[in-house]
Amino acid sequence: MKLCMIGTGYVGLVSGTCFADIGNQVICVDKDKNKIEKLNSGVSPIYEPGLDELIKKNYLSKRLSFSTNLKKSIKSSDVIFICVGTPTKKNSINVDLSFVYKCAKEIFKNTNKKKIIVTKSTVPVGTADKVKATIQKELDLRSSDLQFDVVSNPEFLKEGAAIVDFMKPDRVVIGADSKYAFKKMKELYSPFFRSRDRFITMDIRSAEMTKYAANAMLATKISFMNEIANICEKVGADANQVRLGIGADQRIGYSFIYPGVGYGGSCFPKDVKALTKIAEENGYTAELITAVEQVNDAQKLVIAQKIVKRFGEDLTGLTFGIWGLSFKPGTDDMREAPAIYVIKELVKRGAKIKAYDPKAINEAKEHYLKGVQNITYVTSKYDVLNNSDALVLLTEWKEFRSPDFDKIKSLLKSPIIFDGRNQYIVYDLENKGLEYYRIGK
Ligand SMILES: NC(=O)c1ccc[n+]([C@@H]2O[C@H](COP(=O)([O-])OP(=O)(O)OC[C@H]3O[C@@H](n4cnc5c(N)ncnc54)[C@H](O)[C@@H]3O)[C@@H](O)[C@H]2O)c1
Repeated sequence: MKLCMIGTGYVGLVSGTCFADIGNQVICVDKDKNKIEKLNSGVSPIYEPGLDELIKKNYLSKRLSFSTNLKKSIKSSDVIFICVGTPTKKNSINVDLSFVYKCAKEIFKNTNKKKIIVTKSTVPVGTADKVKATIQKELDLRSSDLQFDVVSNPEFLKEGAAIVDFMKPDRVVIGADSKYAFKKMKELYSPFFRSRDRFITMDIRSAEMTKYAANAMLATKISFMNEIANICEKVGADANQVRLGIGADQRIGYSFIYPGVGYGGSCFPKDVKALTKIAEENGYTAELITAVEQVNDAQKLVIAQKIVKRFGEDLTGLTFGIWGLSFKPGTDDMREAPAIYVIKELVKRGAKIKAYDPKAINEAKEHYLKGVQNITYVTSKYDVLNNSDALVLLTEWKEFRSPDFDKIKSLLKSPIIFDGRNQYIVYDLENKGLEYYRIGK
């Protein structure tokens, strides 16, 4: 099939590349010239395991191309995926859908054959209907009777494991209202299911809602466990033992119940916010989901509070070594990363920061911590320790899992670790003479 992915970010680039890899002809379009120039010169603008190789392979075989020319890309495609960002509007909890509607308008300005338009971006319930209306208006202006379908196909890939998630999905949710659209979408996705069918077909609004419900459920598990960890600390229980105790119950399960520094990323924070807004606009107060966000906002600063408790309110003259900046391991994405909040809080109190992350240092320097004073970035994990007063672990990259504790102890000024991600629970740090602070204990 001939596909056009509008928006070449984490979702558009990964899904476009995977679609090309199974034999489709794919054009990835973006308004960001710099991104497209990088891709056309063989450099991926994002870090995602395995992505560089897959892009190269499909680019060389001419199944995958990159362009800033939206009109031309749309014209030559049968199925058009809208994968643009849907951020939260500034100073508001409304979702900014301007990019989505702009695409919808563009799609039918210059075309003359039947198309399927798929919203892959996460969009509030009812957006597909508005996209449909926008397109219809464009067609009416041209007195055109062109046929088109709008489909909702929410994306569930996880950054850090995006290619595996896309190539071997748990499920593909398709919301549509025509047999033709369901048939074409099944044709497109069938090569991804070799052992069994994993399609879940439904109406469009339910598909849009499914994405929000999935993210809100996962965020709820995280905030629930963080709240339990905070209570554990008060009552002298160990959150990690509690985690094992409850995870063994199959109705609960072990996934997403690690206590930590709170969730971040481009999806959970904005989607949880959006869902409360969607509910509110429809006359319902989503109390549980609102609380999930409040617990998370507070959780991002729990580790900084532990540092203040140990060193005092004024951190002037102290240096903290940070391990991990990205919002989770396996990605360079720092959107809403807890590290941003923790570092800003420590700097505000006068501290100096030495930070290391395997992939996200450029993102920190160029965007998320740009202009924040007193941060030095280093290129190896042990370099953050020299002359630092404590080590703070914020992202559970594999390379932090089994460090040389004797080396940590010898390099730090005072041998103290604040472990926001509960990496070191299996190690008996006390025998190594390290002071150890973690969430939930
Ligand atoms: N990142 C994830 O893990 C993930 C997972 C599932 C769903 N989603 C959803 O998918 C959507 C995209 O997320 P992302 O992380 O890929 O975003 P992103 O910010 O990485 O990429 C979006 C891209 O769209 C481009 N763009 C914006 N307007 C455009 C226009 N008019 N024409 C062409 N390009 C345009 C931007 O330049 C940018 O490169 C969001 O709705 C998000 O919630 C994201």
